[in-house]
Amino acid sequence: MAKQVKITDLTLRDAHQSLIATRMPLSDMTPILEEMDKAGFYSCEVWGGATFDSCLRFLDEDPWERLRTLRKMMPNTKLQMLFRGQNMLGYRHYADDVLEYFVQKSVANGIDIIRIFDALNDIRNLKTAISAAKKEGAHAQVAISYTTGEVFTLQYYMDYAKRIEAEGADSICIKDMAALLTPYDTYELVKGIKSVTKLPVQLHTHYTSGLASMCLLKGIEAGADIIDTVMSPLALGTSHAPTESMIAALQGTEYDTGMDLVQVSKMRDYYMGLRDKYIKSGLLDPKMLATDSKALIYQVPGGMLSNLLSQLKQAGKEDQLTQVLEEVPRVRKDSGFPPLVTPTSQIVGTQAVFNVITGERYKTVTKEFKGLVRGEYGKTPVDIDPAFRKKIIGDAEPIDCRPADLLKPELDTLRKECAEWTTQEEDVLSYAQFGQVAVKFFEKRRDKMFNVDAEHADRASKVHPL
Ligand code: CO
Repeated sequence: MAKQVKITDLTLRDAHQSLIATRMPLSDMTPILEEMDKAGFYSCEVWGGATFDSCLRFLDEDPWERLRTLRKMMPNTKLQMLFRGQNMLGYRHYADDVLEYFVQKSVANGIDIIRIFDALNDIRNLKTAISAAKKEGAHAQVAISYTTGEVFTLQYYMDYAKRIEAEGADSICIKDMAALLTPYDTYELVKGIKSVTKLPVQLHTHYTSGLASMCLLKGIEAGADIIDTVMSPLALGTSHAPTESMIAALQGTEYDTGMDLVQVSKMRDYYMGLRDKYIKSGLLDPKMLATDSKALIYQVPGGMLSNLLSQLKQAGKEDQLTQVLEEVPRVRKDSGFPPLVTPTSQIVGTQAVFNVITGERYKTVTKEFKGLVRGEYGKTPVDIDPAFRKKIIGDAEPIDCRPADLLKPELDTLRKECAEWTTQEEDVLSYAQFGQVAVKFFEKRRDKMFNVDAEHADRASKVHPL
């Protein structure tokens, strides 16, 4: 029986997060949204991940306004977001009341599918997010953070898949953020997971190591239902397999996507223009587009690689990238083998950068790294050596419960703290996650409104002299 494979396009979220540190503004999206909406994608990933942070911090954009615009201009396509479980889109754990409110507002503003993952694959960190998504009528997809290492056997992933299904998720995604999957491992992994769950399985694998197209194909042969791709001009490198190529590869086979390649290819010129623009402005480093087999050795995801490079550039120590990449696996081992994905990728990455540029390992320890070692983010896949933990956290008490159980409801307090700035209910959620960065954005937004008002008043007084 023919089994139609579905496609989720990631061009408007993961592609630019992986290639240009999430700097694609809404104004670069709007000209193509109508065509994207016509293409027949199963869904488009457009929001969440680092887009929210980038909107507020770098682009002076209201992320909520972005979402509403995308929703309005893509009425026929399911909109998908990436959500870091109890971290939401921020970098710490939030209390359940904030998380539930965030999910409620995300769905109310246009999100259909919420892809939820936990960096440590600690299912306790996903419970509230899954139930909140279901309550709001959204599709709750749980993503497994894929990584390799002695404890990450096929059985480990099958057990986690069973737990995900038992927790009430609607589908499972295999999230290979570091491009570690190989084609035959993908086949075994998808087969294994399909054998223990009835849920649809989606495959997300970055192109960094050059294997993604092959992995997707083997995954499809093993029964994957949905694959993640990116429009070709922003594909490859640290991004993903090209949408057009995957449609073509499956055409006329039992897995045919049913999508019209000619229609989809109409968007290529537009995205090629963006790619040229980003390269010219220096935003897109052509290095990011090359295949890098180091990914298979150092287990560094696409977004992390571009972040490490820019951290080192800022410190004027670009030449130490190789040393940092060699330090990453050592830091990871010390901290209980966390898969490297936001926020653990930043935590481990930044610590590795400090370990190298200060010339002494753990001379400077970040607050976040202490938190990871203490258990603030949940249970690491492997227990941390108590001596190492003591060295990092001193006499602080380790945490072994669901970290969010230690958090009191915090929505009301947050509302009070940012009351003077808010112009919409959603603002409290921007503030909850990005604090002073959000306040700066609110200030600029207010100044802009004042300027517009002043301009209007000025013009009005000229037309109608008082
Ligand atoms: Co990704």
